[in-house]
Amino acid sequence: MKIAGICGSLRKGSYNWLLLKAAEELLPEGLSLTIASIDELPLYNADLDFPLTTERPETVNIFRDTLAEADGVLIVSPEYNYSIPGGLKNAVDWASRGSDSPLLNKPVALMGASPGLLGTVRMQLAFLPVFQFLNMQVIHKPEVLISQANTKFDEDGNLLDSKAKELISRKLENLKAHLLNNQK
Ligand SMILES: Cc1cc2nc3c(=O)[nH]c(=O)nc-3n(C[C@H](O)[C@H](O)[C@H](O)COP(=O)(O)O)c2cc1C
Repeated sequence: MKIAGICGSLRKGSYNWLLLKAAEELLPEGLSLTIASIDELPLYNADLDFPLTTERPETVNIFRDTLAEADGVLIVSPEYNYSIPGGLKNAVDWASRGSDSPLLNKPVALMGASPGLLGTVRMQLAFLPVFQFLNMQVIHKPEVLISQANTKFDEDGNLLDSKAKELISRKLENLKAHLLNNQK
């Protein structure tokens, strides 16, 4: 089964990118991960979308196709101003349009890392109405909130926190169980 991984940070050396890489290493057997990059997406503009155009921008097609090929989605993101980073929200907006939206009804797991003490909890809460609108199947538990992220990775980018690794593994196991159940 395939999952598409989205990183909400575009920054080199991003803690959330390192967290996504840590999750990839902890993937349970039977799951594979493909990155769905948001880095080159234009700002959402309905003039560039159906039905006002017959062809969406190429980077949008690649992003949507990567999501469409996946059975589930893993989003790993920072919190910006107590909410979802604009680039990530823009990406979700591009993927959300049309009855063939590759996010519609899809299982999703969300994780986040922040140097702060609350580890993206407000970003994760801000995502709930978005997931609700798209009727996504949210793997709520366990919550993966990596606080003080500046202390949690070694110089090679490896996650050091064993409790965090356990939570990530359990979340991915729950996502896998959900995907297996959907196949029945
Ligand atoms: C525009 C902006 C807003 C931010 N707002 C928050 C915030 O609300 N809560 C928080 O914990 N950190 C906030 N931060 C700090 C980020 O958590 C920090 O920059 C983090 O390293 C970003 O994730 P990354 O390392 O994956 O790029 C903000 C950073 C930026 C650039």
